[in-house]
Amino acid sequence: MKLKDFHHYKGDELTPFEKVERKVMEMVASSKIADSQREDSIIFELMHAAGCMQIGRLLAQKRNLNIDIASVACMLHDIFVIVSGTYQNHGPAGAPIARKIFEEIGSFSENEIETITQAVAHHSEKEIYSDNPYIELVKDVDVFDCSLYKNSEGFYRIHKSAEIVKEYENRIRKVRLELNLSPEPVFRK
Ligand SMILES: [Fe+2]
Repeated sequence: MKLKDFHHYKGDELTPFEKVERKVMEMVASSKIADSQREDSIIFELMHAAGCMQIGRLLAQKRNLNIDIASVACMLHDIFVIVSGTYQNHGPAGAPIARKIFEEIGSFSENEIETITQAVAHHSEKEIYSDNPYIELVKDVDVFDCSLYKNSEGFYRIHKSAEIVKEYENRIRKVRLELNLSPEPVFRK
């Protein structure tokens, strides 16, 4: 097999999926919305998007899903927050932004666009268990990535209802088991 060099996200050798990943990171890097105008910092958005992308790539392999679709869906899931600074209705509001990126880069099938934009649109519905594996993957990845930050438990218990925190815990525990991690502690201490 002829080895291909890694492009390190420079130049035109990227796949369309990688071009979307680069585009999201460029949007983070060029954001004009100051942290004072954001609910979270732009640095956190960068870390969370990149962290979710890599965890999504791992879980996709565990679940026999398409790695490119999982990777890009995870990278894009909070695109509305990256663009606007706010979490208000950010799932549904992010879907058209994601669609625009796919159309600009081109060469995606309608099926791929639909799968990923649906995952973006519905990823906040953590209490709902759908039969769409990519929507569920993004939900699981989102809470699992956050659980790896110190005081994420405090944030959730202060800002979310007890029922929602329970759903988060269930999802995080499930991912920990899939990745052969000990199920406890659910949140990093
Ligand atoms: Fe998120």
